[in-house]
Amino acid sequence: MASTCTCTLFFILPFSFFILTSASSEADILLTFKDSIEDPMNSLSSWSNTTSTHHCNWTGITCTTSPPLSVSSVNLQGLNLSGEISSFICQLPNLTHLNLANNLFNQPIPLHLSQCGSLETLNLSNNLIWGTVPDKISQFGSLVALDLSRNHVEGKIPESIGSLKNLQVLNLGSNLLSGSLPLVLGNFTALIVLDLSQNPFLVSEIPTAIGKLDKLEQVLLQSSGFYGAIPDSFVGLKGLSVLDLSQNNLTGGVPQTLGLSLTNLVSFDVSENKLVGSFPSGICNAKGLVNLSVHTNSFNGSMSNTSIHECLNLERFQIQNNGFSGDFPCGIWSLPKIMLIRAENNRFSGEIPDSISMAGQLEQVQIDNNSFISKLPHGLGLVRSLYRFSASLNGLYGELPPNFCDSPVMSIINLSHNYFSGQIPELKSCRKLVSLSLADNTFVGEIPESLAELPVLTYLDLSHNNLTGSIPEELQNQKLALFNVSFNRLSGRVPYSLISGLPASFLQGNPGLCGPGLPNSCSDDKLGHNVASLSKLACAMISVALAAAIVILACVFYVMRRSSKRKSEMGVWRSVFFYPLRVTENDLIMAMDEKAGRASGGAFGRYYIINLPSGELIAVKKILKFGSQSSKNLKAEVKTLAKIRHKNITRILGFCHSNDAIFLIYECLPRGSLWDLISSPDFELPWSVRLRIAVGVAQGLTYLHRDYVPHLLHRNVKSKNVLVDAEFEPKLTDFSLDRIVGEAAFQSSLASESASSCYMAPECRYTKKATEQMDTYSFGVVLLELVTGRIAEQTDSRDNSLDIVKWVRRKINITNGALQVIDPKISSSYQQELFGALDIALRCTSVMPEKRPPMSEVVKALQSLESRSRLPSLEFSASDGSSVPL
Ligand SMILES: *[C@@H]1O[C@H](CO)[C@@H](O)[C@H](O)[C@H]1NC(C)=O
Ligand SMILES: *[C@@H]1O[C@H](CO)[C@@H](O)[C@H](O)[C@H]1NC(C)=O
Ligand SMILES: *[C@@H]1O[C@H](CO)[C@@H](O)[C@H](O)[C@H]1NC(C)=O
Ligand SMILES: *[C@@H]1O[C@H](CO)[C@@H](O)[C@H](O)[C@H]1NC(C)=O
Ligand SMILES: *[C@@H]1O[C@H](CO)[C@@H](O)[C@H](O)[C@H]1NC(C)=O
Ligand SMILES: *[C@@H]1O[C@H](CO)[C@@H](O)[C@H](O)[C@H]1NC(C)=O
Ligand SMILES: *[C@@H]1O[C@H](CO)[C@@H](O)[C@H](O)[C@H]1NC(C)=O
Ligand SMILES: *[C@@H]1O[C@H](CO)[C@@H](O)[C@H](O)[C@H]1NC(C)=O
Ligand SMILES: *[C@@H]1O[C@H](CO)[C@@H](O)[C@H](O)[C@H]1NC(C)=O
Repeated sequence: MASTCTCTLFFILPFSFFILTSASSEADILLTFKDSIEDPMNSLSSWSNTTSTHHCNWTGITCTTSPPLSVSSVNLQGLNLSGEISSFICQLPNLTHLNLANNLFNQPIPLHLSQCGSLETLNLSNNLIWGTVPDKISQFGSLVALDLSRNHVEGKIPESIGSLKNLQVLNLGSNLLSGSLPLVLGNFTALIVLDLSQNPFLVSEIPTAIGKLDKLEQVLLQSSGFYGAIPDSFVGLKGLSVLDLSQNNLTGGVPQTLGLSLTNLVSFDVSENKLVGSFPSGICNAKGLVNLSVHTNSFNGSMSNTSIHECLNLERFQIQNNGFSGDFPCGIWSLPKIMLIRAENNRFSGEIPDSISMAGQLEQVQIDNNSFISKLPHGLGLVRSLYRFSASLNGLYGELPPNFCDSPVMSIINLSHNYFSGQIPELKSCRKLVSLSLADNTFVGEIPESLAELPVLTYLDLSHNNLTGSIPEELQNQKLALFNVSFNRLSGRVPYSLISGLPASFLQGNPGLCGPGLPNSCSDDKLGHNVASLSKLACAMISVALAAAIVILACVFYVMRRSSKRKSEMGVWRSVFFYPLRVTENDLIMAMDEKAGRASGGAFGRYYIINLPSGELIAVKKILKFGSQSSKNLKAEVKTLAKIRHKNITRILGFCHSNDAIFLIYECLPRGSLWDLISSPDFELPWSVRLRIAVGVAQGLTYLHRDYVPHLLHRNVKSKNVLVDAEFEPKLTDFSLDRIVGEAAFQSSLASESASSCYMAPECRYTKKATEQMDTYSFGVVLLELVTGRIAEQTDSRDNSLDIVKWVRRKINITNGALQVIDPKISSSYQQELFGALDIALRCTSVMPEKRPPMSEVVKALQSLESRSRLPSLEFSASDGSSVPL
């Protein structure tokens, strides 16, 4: 009997093992994976073993096409998932693609996924991944694509990343990486896409080894801290289609041979660097331009046949805001696919060739503020796709070709500050023209009447020319926002609506103009205009102008706000979390916009209590305009504060900042502040609790003053800044903000907020230097609040503010005064201790700073009161640093 049993077991075991690993168990693997995931939108409802749906048909699951069906791809993007990414998923034997992008996973890089033997693509883009790239990233040796972009990954990229030899896509963009690039870049021989953009702390040269990666198609290094020269080795990257090095700190020139290799280049962007020198003359010599290029070619005659076909795919060419000089690479103008040319704010010279007509896709040209010396070619008017042509501040000359505005989509023309002459041609074809500036040239003749027929013309600036004749009546019908014809030689009557009907109208400097409100009234005007009515009109004009200015300003603000909004969506907000927070910058901003949190005031900004989706509460302090701290300094300062670990100081969990605001994220305590407690009508804390609060606050201050390195001052001690946890343990908040906003901003903000605050030591009013004794004074005031049970600043029935220090001092000067100030709600058995505490408070609030005891002594004195009431407890030792390890 016994032997049959063993035998059965022996046969069942391998069989059940088979069941678990066969196709049916894949559903169980997925369900176990799902168990550790939080799915607030219930997106994974189809993942269930109760429905009859085969797991290959579950949301986000793709299976192998050939039987036996097996999961090959798990794609759960954008489902607001959070929780744990469990390595259970690696038990799917054929899992090749795992995409968890656009979720809220809040954890370090999940190294354990390296157990997934077949995994080729791992996409964790746009989550809340934090921490450093660990050395063990090398375990992902078989990955083909790794996307960790748009997270909070920080620290140096380790050398070991060089073992990911199969990588074709490496995207670490929009993180907080720092340091310089490891030298192993050359190991990624299969790499096609390299994205290290938007890592402002990544301060590095571009490694020469990049030239070895001859499969590279996209190199995105923009908006990081790259400095030094663009390596010559770029020339080898024949497959390159997108090269973005913009907004870095690159210096030197562009490699002279660059143009020869970039046959596949679609987008070339080196804008906003510190590049200098002339541009490679060989770059992008297009067909048919050979002759034109010859005279601009000051280099080694790279006019070989190979160069004729270069760059035929180039669509976007952006080299603006650098220090380039010499001739602009002429071939660019006539490339068949070119859409965008931006070269403004350099020192380019050269001509705009007539062959620009061959640039059949050209939409936008911005070459303002250079030294182009050229006529405007007839060919320009033949480009039917052009909608913006902006070439102000150059040496352009000659007459405008009659067709210069013939593109049917032309919207913006800026030719101001050049040397154009002759007449302004009639403009008829550009029905979409919105803005035309021809200011500061030497145009002569009359303002073309056809301007009045352009249906959407809004900005018209013809100022500082030599225009004559009268202002066309028909312009009255245009809905102009700007009409500037000042400083010409115009004459005659100004149509009335052009004087008063426009937001901004500039007519001065035309002695011949006449009309109401102008220096000259027209000769056929009715006599009898007296001075009074004239000045009335002048007033009217001034107010119109003012209104215009306001409207324009409002628009500018609106546009700026909108663009800054857009920017913030694009990630100009940077955040650093010292704690795994399930929150994004956008959550914070929205929570505060919607006033969802409870807000309360405070120095430098408001506090918001925000309920995170995870149920955690955080307190966020929004500080506006925090001075001129660079983000590097700022990060360092906040880190200094965030490293403080003391039971009586609130923890800073992280911060995020943009150019004009910073959000400090603090832990949130349930009972609110000491001020909240004392000011509530039914305030009734027993003395032992009050004493514990006093000791805690004193210990927190001692820690800041003496134990923490660097030594800090709190500088804003008050009962509102003493938070109380569930066990009535106090925690100081709002500390040392001077380190973040800067001394000047701190002083002025504090001065305006609390000029009369009775927490402020009297010497604050005449000395600028902050001292420990000032904190001690403020602490004394808080202690008085605890002893008296009254809040420090109260207004009495006659609206006089009652300073608690003065009130107490006045009372105790009379007989039995001390008895009158202590809180009557406290049992009289504690009277002696109360007197002791009152004495400490009075010493702390001494008018003479040198008479105030250091906080460490205050701690001892208070603790001796405490132990008196709870003898023989020796719970607190005087040297108690109470620091909790990180
Ligand atoms: C499958 O469903 C049953 C209930 O229908 C449940 O008890 C079991 O735990 C589920 N299996 C898994 C792996 O979730
Ligand atoms: C998935 O669903 C489709 C259509 O509903 C069905 O034809 C197919 O057989 C299902 N696949 C599996 C493996 O159940
Ligand atoms: C996903 O989360 C974001 C941010 O937490 C929230 O704004 C959005 O409404 C959520 N989406 C859905 C469909 O719940
Ligand atoms: C799935 O994985 C198993 C085990 O590694 C392997 O035998 C099988 O060939 C794979 N199937 C496919 C379609 O790749
Ligand atoms: C990762 O997912 C995001 C969001 O869908 C996508 O934009 C990105 O291209 C993916 N990365 C890779 C390497 O496929
Ligand atoms: C990079 O490649 C070289 C040469 O193939 C190799 O010796 C080195 O170990 C690789 N580096 C890493 C980190 O794998
Ligand atoms: C650029 O480089 C200069 C000098 O090398 C340095 O002073 C400056 O801070 C850098 N700027 C940025 C934005 O990295
Ligand atoms: C280009 O050069 C060739 C010979 O060098 C000459 O015949 C032709 O006329 C030139 N074309 C132009 C447009 O200058
Ligand atoms: C404007 O035109 C007049 C007459 O032709 C000429 O004398 C004067 O120099 C011109 N002014 C400028 C600034 O070109």
